[in-house]
Amino acid sequence: MSKEKNSNQDSYPYEIRDNYLFVTTVSKRGSITTKVCNFVPRIVSEKTVDDGAVTEKTLVLSGIHADGSTLPPVEVNGADLSNFNWLLDKWGAKCIIEVGQRCKDQLRYYIQTTSENAEQLTEYHVTGWKKIDGEWHFLLPGDGSLHVTLKGKLRYYCGERNWSKTDLHTTKLLYTMPPARKEIIHPLLAFAFLTPLNEFLRQAGCMPKFTLFLTGRTGTRKSTIAALILSFFGAFTSTDLPMSFQDTANSITANAFTLKDVLTCIDDFYPSDNAEMKKLNTTAQKIMRAYGDRTGRGRMRADCTLMENRPPQGNAIITGELRPDVGESGIARYFPLELKDGDVNLAYLTEYQEEAAQGVYRRTMFAYTEWLKRRFICDDDHEEKFVKRLRELYDSYRSDFLSHGVKCHGRLPEIVACLMIGMRFFLYFLKENGVIFQDEKDEEIKNFSELLLRVAARQAVDIEYEKPANIFVRKLYALMESGDVVLKRKGSHGDYTPSFFSGIVNSDYLMIHLDSVFPLIKKLCSDSGEAFPYTKNSIMKALVEEGIAEPGRQSTTRVTKIQNFSMRLLYLRKDKTDAIAEVNDDVEEVA
Ligand SMILES: Nc1ncnc2c1ncn2[C@@H]1O[C@H](COP(=O)(O)OP(=O)(O)OP(=O)(O)O)[C@@H](O)[C@H]1O
Ligand SMILES: [Mg+2]
Repeated sequence: MSKEKNSNQDSYPYEIRDNYLFVTTVSKRGSITTKVCNFVPRIVSEKTVDDGAVTEKTLVLSGIHADGSTLPPVEVNGADLSNFNWLLDKWGAKCIIEVGQRCKDQLRYYIQTTSENAEQLTEYHVTGWKKIDGEWHFLLPGDGSLHVTLKGKLRYYCGERNWSKTDLHTTKLLYTMPPARKEIIHPLLAFAFLTPLNEFLRQAGCMPKFTLFLTGRTGTRKSTIAALILSFFGAFTSTDLPMSFQDTANSITANAFTLKDVLTCIDDFYPSDNAEMKKLNTTAQKIMRAYGDRTGRGRMRADCTLMENRPPQGNAIITGELRPDVGESGIARYFPLELKDGDVNLAYLTEYQEEAAQGVYRRTMFAYTEWLKRRFICDDDHEEKFVKRLRELYDSYRSDFLSHGVKCHGRLPEIVACLMIGMRFFLYFLKENGVIFQDEKDEEIKNFSELLLRVAARQAVDIEYEKPANIFVRKLYALMESGDVVLKRKGSHGDYTPSFFSGIVNSDYLMIHLDSVFPLIKKLCSDSGEAFPYTKNSIMKALVEEGIAEPGRQSTTRVTKIQNFSMRLLYLRKDKTDAIAEVNDDVEEVA
C-alpha cells in the first residue's frame, strides 16, 4: 500500500490529522473539533462538458485514505456531489463519512474549497463549428488543442492536422478519376464539402434539408463508397459506419444532433420481411423528416419544462437496397443516387481506400475548414458577408435550376442549389490552393450543374411515380390484369349487382365503383408489404387534383345508370390512366 502524502492543505475550520478530516465548530460552549471522515478528498479537475445544447459540470476527485492509500481519480457529476451516493461505488466501503447529514455538508463544503488549484477542462461531445472566445473552431476528435470526445461508433470520427499540397492533389484525383460513375461520386463530394458550411447556411436561412440516398443491389459497394466519402471526417470502413437501420430512430436522431457540420451515414435499409419493412419504413420516415425539416423531437423533462430542441445538424448519406416507402413528401426529402453492378472501378477504389487509410482525406478536410476560417469567418464582418454571399448563391442556383423548367417537387431546386454550393466551395478551395486553375474551376462548375440537371430530371420522374393518385392507378391496373377487378364494357352481359360490380370502361373513361375497388387496392398493397396510408376521400381528391378524375357537378363521383341500377362512379380519364400505367393498348375486353 503506497503511503502517499496528501497534497491538500488543511485550512481552518478544517484540519487534516493522519489523513483523517476534522472540522472545528464554534458554539456558545466553546469550540469543538470533530471527525468528518477517514479520507481526504480533493478536486483534481473541474470539467465542463458541452454537448452542443447544454453544458454540464463534472468534477474529477482524487484523495488519500487514512490508511495511506491513494484514492483513484473518479468523475462525479456536479449535481451528485453533495449526496455522496457515488462514494461506495467508486471508492469502496473503506471510505467512511461520520454519521449525520451535517458531516456530509461539511465534507461537500471542504471538497469545494479545494477547487482553487483544480485544473479547468472543457470537453466537447459535439462536432463542427463552435465559437469560443469570439473565434470559430471546427471540432473533431484528435485534430486540435480542444478536447472532443465521441462515444460508440461515433468514435471513428477524427480529424488530422499537418496537411500538405500533396493531400489536396490526391483528393483532386477522386474528382477527376472517380472510383465510380461521376454521376455518383461528384454529388457525394459536393455533399461532403457542403457539410462544413451547414452552420453558415443555417444562419443564412438555407440549411440543406435533405439526405442523399445511395441505392443499389447487394454487393454494389454502397457501404464501401459511403465509407470512402466519410473518410473526409474520420477513419471509416464499410463495416464501421457510424449508424445503421439496426439502430433505433431515437438513437439515430440523437447522433444526428451530435454530428454537427460533418457527414454521416445511416447504412443498410434492408427489411428482411414485411414486419421489418413496416418498422424500417417508420424509422426511415422519422430520419428523413428530421433531416428534411431540421426539427428535433419536442420532449419534456420530468418537471414538465421543455428540453432543448435537438435537430440534426450535419448531413447524412443513407444506403439501402430498396428505396424506403416514405411517400411523396418523403421522397422530396432525399436525393437518390443509384449504384449499378460494374459501376465501381475496383482498381481505383483500392487506391483511394489506401489514401483514406493514410488520412489524406481527413487532412484535406482539415485544410478546407482552416481555409474557410481564414478566408470567410475570421471576424464578425467577414462572417456577415459570408452568410449573405451564401444566401445569394443559394437563391441564384435555385432560380437557375428553375429556369430550366424541370418538372419537379418544390424541394428539388433547393437540393440542387445546396449541392452546387458544396461543389463550388470544393473547387474554389482547390483553386485557391493552386491545385486547379480558374478555367478548370469554372468549367467543372458548369459540368456539375449539367450533371445535376440530368440526375434531378430523373428524380422528378420518381416523385411523379410515387404520387398517391399514380400509385392508385397502377394498383388498379394490376388488379385488372390479375382479373381481381373486372371492368365491363357497356352493354356486355354480366352480373351488375352492385356488390360484385367494379365498374365499366369505354374508350374515354374507366368508371370505377370505388366502394368495391378501394378495399381491393388496400389489400393488394398490404399483401405486398407496401404502405398505402390513404383514405378513399383523400385518393378521390388527389385524382381530381391531378386531372385524372373528372368530377360531377355536385360531387366527385357521378350518378350513372346501368341497366336497372343507379350508382355513383368515379370517372377516370383513360388517356391519363393509361399513360400512368404505361399501357399503350386499350384495356382488354372482358366478359
Ligand atoms: N477495393 C475493393 N476491392 C474489392 N472488393 C472490395 C473493395 N472494397 C470493398 N470490397 C468488398 O465489396 C463487397 C461489397 O461491398 P459493400 O458491403 O460496400 O456492398 P453493399 O452494396 O453495401 O452491399 P449490401 O447491400 O449487401 O450491404 C464487400 O465484401 C467489400 O469487402
Ligand atoms: Mg452495405
